Amino acid sequence: MSETAKIELDGKSYELPVIEGTEKEKGIDISKLRGGTGGYITLDPGFKNTGSTKSAITYLDGENGILRYRGYPIEQLAEKASFLEVAYLLIYGELPSSQEFETFTTSITNHTLVHEDMKQFFEAYPAQAHPMGILASMVCSLSTFYPESLDPDRGPEAKDLTIHRLIAKLPTLAAWSYKNALRHPIMYPNNKYDYTQNFLHMMYAMPTSDYEMDPVIVSALNTLLILHADHEQNCSTSTVRIVGSSHANLYSSISAGINALWGPLHGGANQAVIEMLEKIANDGGDVDKWVVKAKDKSDSFRLMGFGHRVYKNFDPRATIIKKACDDVLDKLGVDDPLLDIAKKLEKVALEDEYFKERNLYPNVDFYSGIIYKAIGIPTEMFTVMFAIGRLPGWIAQWKEMIENGEPIGRPRQIYTGENERDYVQFQDR
Ligand code: SDX
Repeated sequence: MSETAKIELDGKSYELPVIEGTEKEKGIDISKLRGGTGGYITLDPGFKNTGSTKSAITYLDGENGILRYRGYPIEQLAEKASFLEVAYLLIYGELPSSQEFETFTTSITNHTLVHEDMKQFFEAYPAQAHPMGILASMVCSLSTFYPESLDPDRGPEAKDLTIHRLIAKLPTLAAWSYKNALRHPIMYPNNKYDYTQNFLHMMYAMPTSDYEMDPVIVSALNTLLILHADHEQNCSTSTVRIVGSSHANLYSSISAGINALWGPLHGGANQAVIEMLEKIANDGGDVDKWVVKAKDKSDSFRLMGFGHRVYKNFDPRATIIKKACDDVLDKLGVDDPLLDIAKKLEKVALEDEYFKERNLYPNVDFYSGIIYKAIGIPTEMFTVMFAIGRLPGWIAQWKEMIENGEPIGRPRQIYTGENERDYVQFQDR
């Protein structure tokens, strides 16, 4: 017996179907609401109570701090898997066999080069260009070099080629945007390296000197990329889905996602956290003063890296990153005063009624910047790292939306403007 929700409108009663997910989440299916009730819609700014789709990719339980990719707990994947294994899992639904993984990684390795003509784009950007602006433009520009990608429905082989090209080229584009900022010569990918090592090579090697791979740094980066790989229907993923729902190509859909991630309320928070910690450090390190500011409604200051739309408990990723922070800084012999400030800030905030009653806990961005800083990633590249990590999730969500034949996204509205009025030219205002 399927459940229904009953509503009364204008003296009439209506029944709406209730759907239940595999983790017993329930939702009221309102897809027939407007037609069935003579025009009623629902209103939910920010979609805080609205599901946009049914998805089999990632499961979040915000109350209990649970995150699973295709059923696998994030804690196990972060500890045992490689980033490309997790990418394969998210995109194709199952962990790869050793043969499937070999085929996948070989394909990615063979597509890491970027068309030589794209180098001219980098040279045109000013040194102070934010790498997220470069990355979003470059990813969209890939569609101009691979016109066969313009049709998202061209069948599995063509779709896989477009997907593999993007996964392979994003680290190259990211590293080149960093080299552009330094006005250093770009470094080409080297097929002897794995995915994470190749990124570090392109970021830090020079034509005159190799980058010496530190296994601690490679492992930390692999973990960070896995922790960022997907997060169900967040702002940037919803952007990828809605752009992709018009059947725009994958590159332009992902470029839109990169732009959405850039915002300081979303992926840009990891850069904003470090800038906040540096501001507190430069102000003498008085964390109590800044917690008071964060609670003051008349003050625009917010505690960056704190709070989350879904997690009303600890973000499980933050727990893993916080532990990795101590481990990586200890192994690298880095003593970062910002980590001490972060821990003090976290302690003060978690004991404060304002944060407790609003269930505001550190999120994935609170500690990630400290590790990126310790492994030499410049602050302006932090959100680029988030984008590299999130790419497989964006692709998986786009692919699921296309393959499920979901309709073009087009929300309704409640109009609150002027009622009908006649035109009079040059009315005296
Ligand atoms: C990511 O969605 C995802 O899954 C995102 C993400 C992913 O993996 O894709 O997890 C990645 O984006 C993490 C979030 C990174 N952003 C930040 O760290 C920026 C700081 N955080 C806030 O801006 C905020 O917490 C959000 C944007 C994350 C969530 O905002 P919501 O859900 O819209 O909540 P809200 O703004 O309505 O806040 C509820 C209350 C408000 O106070 P009241 O009006 O009830 O009095 O909590 C307060 C807010 O003022 N509040 C904060 C706060 N966050 C919320 N107060 C001070 N500092 C904060 N950080």
